[in-house]
Amino acid sequence: MEHIKLTEDLPIGFMDSGLGGLSVLQQAVRMMPSEDFIYYGDSANAPYGTKPQEEIRRLTFNVVEKLLDMGIKGLAVACNTATSAAVRLLREKYPELPIVGIEPAIKPAVEDNHGGEIVVMATPMTIAQEKYHRLLDKYRGDKEIISVPCAGLMEFVEEGDLNGDDLDRYFEEHLSPYLSDKTETIVLGCTHYPFIRPHLRAFLNNPSVNIIDGSEGTSRELMRRLGEKDLLRKQPDRKGSVTIINSTGSDEMIRRSEKLLQMPVD
Ligand code: DGL
Repeated sequence: MEHIKLTEDLPIGFMDSGLGGLSVLQQAVRMMPSEDFIYYGDSANAPYGTKPQEEIRRLTFNVVEKLLDMGIKGLAVACNTATSAAVRLLREKYPELPIVGIEPAIKPAVEDNHGGEIVVMATPMTIAQEKYHRLLDKYRGDKEIISVPCAGLMEFVEEGDLNGDDLDRYFEEHLSPYLSDKTETIVLGCTHYPFIRPHLRAFLNNPSVNIIDGSEGTSRELMRRLGEKDLLRKQPDRKGSVTIINSTGSDEMIRRSEKLLQMPVD
């Protein structure tokens, strides 16, 4: 257990294995425009989703410690993979820090379901984790949920390839076998995937399929937790800032991140 001093004027920390968590940060900035944010993308160690659990934990703690050294008043683990591998341990180690994680949006998918199939796209590690199976057991009921491990998909976003033929080939090979005329909802269970939603939408060519993700719910929960501890800024006219750090140290990754942060994903 570590003691941390939390004050209202500190920034809110965000972490992800790379650029994906920016899809969650977009929502958080929209909801809390007076706040400052520090986003740490660990692209040098990406992907997390095909690594063993122990390694994901070690990498996640390493990033969180860097954010804590810089000073943060709350933390969003904006990565489904890191959340499932490490969020419980993070909460144990930093009990007074408001911490939110993101998990595949199974609950809203089930609640809105009209009898069709729910397809969940996520990293192999997210799908293999016990936390994911508990989530399925909790909400599935009699609904048909198909889990699709998408190794290699986050790399398209890291490389800025958001709409090429290679992405079509990826969908054709890895996703199409799980789709049918019964597909009602696709859950984007990795924070990188909202950035390829426009291309996925075009690939599906079927406006009746819902494509959902958990970024809005996660940002709302982050705001609620900060509010509960009276840590939200109280100057509604203040314009907050976003600082982006990437473990590659590359300017190109920062430029790419800034572009993604501005990109409409819903
Ligand atoms: N963005 C991450 C997630 O939400 C994972 C991508 C990866 O590193 O494999 O799961």
